[in-house]
Parts: sequence; structure tokens; C-alpha cells
Amino acid sequence: MEVLQGHWDVVEERPGGEGVPAGLVARGWDGFLLGLSDGEVEAHEIAGLEGDWGGAPEGLRALAAAAREVCALEVMDVPPMREMARKKLTVRKAAQVDAFAAVALPVARRAGRVLDVGCGHGHLTRELAERLELPVLGLERDAALAARARALPTTATAAPVFQLSDVLRDGLALRADDLVIGLHACGELGDTMVEAAARVGAALVLVGCCLQKRRGPVRRSLAGGTMLELPTALLGLSNLSPGDDGVETSRADNLAARQRRLALHHLLTRTAEPTLPLGAELDGLNRRSAQHELAMLAARAFALRALPPPTPADLAAAATWAAHHHARARRLALPRALLARVLEVHVLCDRALHLEQSGHTVRHGTLWPRSVSPRNLALLATRFS
Ligand SMILES: C[S@@+](CC[C@H](N)C(=O)[O-])C[C@H]1O[C@@H](n2cnc3c(N)ncnc32)[C@H](O)[C@@H]1O
Repeated sequence: MEVLQGHWDVVEERPGGEGVPAGLVARGWDGFLLGLSDGEVEAHEIAGLEGDWGGAPEGLRALAAAAREVCALEVMDVPPMREMARKKLTVRKAAQVDAFAAVALPVARRAGRVLDVGCGHGHLTRELAERLELPVLGLERDAALAARARALPTTATAAPVFQLSDVLRDGLALRADDLVIGLHACGELGDTMVEAAARVGAALVLVGCCLQKRRGPVRRSLAGGTMLELPTALLGLSNLSPGDDGVETSRADNLAARQRRLALHHLLTRTAEPTLPLGAELDGLNRRSAQHELAMLAARAFALRALPPPTPADLAAAATWAAHHHARARRLALPRALLARVLEVHVLCDRALHLEQSGHTVRHGTLWPRSVSPRNLALLATRFS
């Protein structure tokens, strides 16, 4: 993945503070980026890889073109969506379940058993159980979710079994005739599924998400060779989505939350933690807490550190500082954002390569449009004889 290797310093240096990332200065991109109007920044943020970089410095245009090329994957063809009415199923999740089932069913019909890892409410588990005549098992580590999955109705002749299991702790014992599936199986869970399927020759259908959700500080490549080792802290970049297609909160709310986080980071580095890395300001708090007013967010973050809350004057000064620096950071973050999908595709290719090395036949591509969910990269792998 030369495009990632060649711009690794851009990925590593997250803009947000007073300075300008050295990698942008060295490439001569900072002047162009800081000169973009509000409208141009917004257009680039929404368009993502499809943005028009016509007036940009040559290197930046080349990066955009290379990233677009790397991310131009097969668009998997699925039949028109079936009617699906299930309790607790949103319209977008229904579209994901439908498309996932369309690609998984032909593989499942050749399997002896299906395991849905990180099954959540079990919508996909039930959909497959109702359309197959073989054992279907949902594995979920959250006891409340597993209980809800069991309680939801199904028309399956043989109801799926929902089992409480933390797969990272308990392991994933597969058989060669299994199909293991995961719809939005996060980070390390996706890798665990790929490794388990590769080991025994089981089939796999996986749409991953939240690659940063893993226990160690580094994601080691499964395929080895030239594939990169990726620090966990940087994998969160792969979660970035242009526009507000297919995500729960609006773009405006997300931008306001990011500005508030910057203000919080500023407050924390000024008072208690001068070396706190950007992004660590929410450590110990739920990501959604950044949707609250700055005063409440700061009070919580300071209380976590046993500090008194900032004064109204401190809060006002931090908010003003953050408004200015957030506007700069949005501009300077545009090249880094171009690499977000590349990072996600890199992990997809690493998983695909590992399965190929173990003798699987592999297919990958996008399974639904971004408007359904930006986490839409699917991996299909089979080794049935
Ligand atoms: C993003 S949700 C997806 C849920 C469901 N597959 C869907 O698409 O609606 C990820 C699910 O994986 C579960 N999970 C995360 N880590 C797990 C683990 N180590 N073992 C089992 N389940 C896990 C979470 O509790 C959550 O329900």
C-alpha cells in the first residue's frame, strides 16, 4: 500500500493545536489548505474521495487520485430488497441485513452450521435461520443484548440459539464446514474471525467496523509481507465518514462536538495534562458526551481527574480558542481524511490476503451504498471442497 506508506506522516500527525503538521509544510500544502473558503472546506468534507482537487498542489491532487484508485472496489450486486418487518429493526439496519443475507445465503447452503459473531439483537441471525435448514448460532458478549435477541420473535422452524460469549476471551472454535459471519463485527473481533476461519478452512462473510476497538496498542498484519502494522490509536481514522450519510448524528452536530472536544483538550492541557494527545480528552467518557454543552462535558472530564470544574471565564476563553483552531484543523485535516478509507481498505486487503494464503477463494467489495452505512466493506471467503 504505497499510498499509505508514502503519506504515513500525514496519518500520524493529527491537526488541532497551534502548529501546522510538518508533513503538510514539507509538501507545500499548508498554504493552499488554509486558504480554502468555508464553502470549499465543506464541499471537500462532504465529497470525501470524490472531491474536486483541481486547484490543489500537484502532490495533493496525486494523493486524491491514488486514494480514489485504491478505494475503487467491486460494488457487489444484490437483488432488490425484500420486505422485512422486525421488532427493533431500523430501516438502515434492515437494508444491511437484507444485503448481507443475499450474499451469505448461497455460501450458507453449502455449510453445516452458521455462527453469527457479535450478533447484537440477532436480526441477521434470525433472518438466516428463517431461510435455512441448519443450525444457526448467535454469539454475543453483552448479556442484555443476548437476552433481547432470545426474546424477539422468529418464524424459523429451528429457532437460532443465542449464546453469551466474549469471543476474544473464550476463543472461536470453528469447524471446516462452518460459515462464520459478522455484520459490523468491530476491530479485533473481525481479525479473530478471519484467523479462526483461515486456520480450519471455514467459510466467512464479514463486514467489519470500528477497527480501533482492540486490546493491544498495535494491529499486526495477518498476511505479513509488505502489509503495514497499524497503531491502534490511528485506526480510529478509518471510522471517519464524509458527509452525514448513513450515520446517526448530523454533520452539524458532529462538527460542533469536535469543536467542543478541541476546547476540552485545550482546557486540559492548560491546567492538568500538558502532554495529553489529541483524542485522549474523552478517555473514560462515552463518545456521545461530546454532544453535551462544553460546561457539562468539561465538568465530567475534570471530575474524572478529581479536578474542580473550569470557571465560566475559562470555558468562554477555551470556546473562542477552539472556534478559531477548529476552523484551521478542518482545513489541515483534509489530506488525512483522504487516507481514512485507504486505511480501512488496507485492513480489508490484509484480511483477504491472509485467507487467500490459507487456500480460501476470496471476494471483496462494497455491499451497500454509503447512505445505508459508510461501513460497507464486505469480505467473502470460502474453501469448501
Ligand atoms: C456494532 S455491533 C453489531 C451488532 C449486530 N451484528 C448488528 O449488525 O446489528 C457489534 C456487536 O458485537 C458485540 N461484541 C463486541 N465484542 C464482542 C466479543 N468480544 N464477543 C462477542 N460479541 C462482541 C457487541 O456487544 C455488539 O453487539
